[in-house]
Amino acid sequence: MTPSETQALLGQLEAVVGENLDRHLALTDDWMPHELIPWSLGRDFADLGGEPWSAEQSRLSPVARVALEVNLLTEDNLPSYHSELVRMFGRDGAWGTWVNRWTAEEARHASGIRDYLLVTRAVDPERLERARMATLQAGFDAGDKSPLRACVYVAFQELATRVAHRNTGRCCDDPVAERLLARIATDENLHMVFYRDLVQAALRLAPNQTLRAIADEVAGFVMPGSVIPGFARMAVQIADAGVYDLRIHHDDVIMPLVRYWRVLERDDIDAKGERARDDLAATLTALDARATRFVERRAEAQMLRWRRQAP
Ligand SMILES: [Fe+2]
Ligand SMILES: [Fe+2]
Repeated sequence: MTPSETQALLGQLEAVVGENLDRHLALTDDWMPHELIPWSLGRDFADLGGEPWSAEQSRLSPVARVALEVNLLTEDNLPSYHSELVRMFGRDGAWGTWVNRWTAEEARHASGIRDYLLVTRAVDPERLERARMATLQAGFDAGDKSPLRACVYVAFQELATRVAHRNTGRCCDDPVAERLLARIATDENLHMVFYRDLVQAALRLAPNQTLRAIADEVAGFVMPGSVIPGFARMAVQIADAGVYDLRIHHDDVIMPLVRYWRVLERDDIDAKGERARDDLAATLTALDARATRFVERRAEAQMLRWRRQAP
């Protein structure tokens, strides 16, 4: 797609952005993160004469702490996401209004999770702060992705984030954390619906180009948190615990949107669109096979661990 074709498509989609924005504002509510934080558990740290942080002060499991930390640092990188979206969609009209509204909602997520983690002493605050600094300085760069690809990416990413927050909440085994993360996941779901329906409209306006964007984004999908220091190691722990793994990525993130968009069943595409559809089908088959192998290997490793621990 040439830059002028891209601009024309963005212009055509602006009415849909406006409609989706109105629907979003009608569906969402201005929830108050401070109401969901157990402030009575809070106390001073060492510099104010209180107790320094130590790991045994929280009863959360190690993997719940890692998942919360990754979720928070991912949310923390919001300045980069905001500037990338402004670069793609501009500041004007419905696009600009949406990006600012979305940014304001996303900022609640980091503040809520950080308050919970600090008050409950679930993670080392000094390590968390150093990781936050490193993550924001690394930034998030969408590269030369077209705005169409960015919409597809964000649709998948918002759904991935919804699933990650929801599963992290369950893994915490703490009703307060679960409630907070469920509320955040509700926001992520509405964000996903916004971009899902925008991509649906793009499929009607430019089916071949949108199919290519979907095929490329499924093939190259990388979580936005990949710039967090130690992300690869933490992602393995999160996958081993079943909070977010390849099976979940395929079954609960990629396939629901692929089915919703009916991308494998379209009859309004040309030869380029057919090539994109075939590429997507091959990527999905390979992803499914990798997910199956991952789950099998994880089960084998668990079995070995149990046998070693058995008396
Ligand atoms: Fe978020
Ligand atoms: Fe979101």
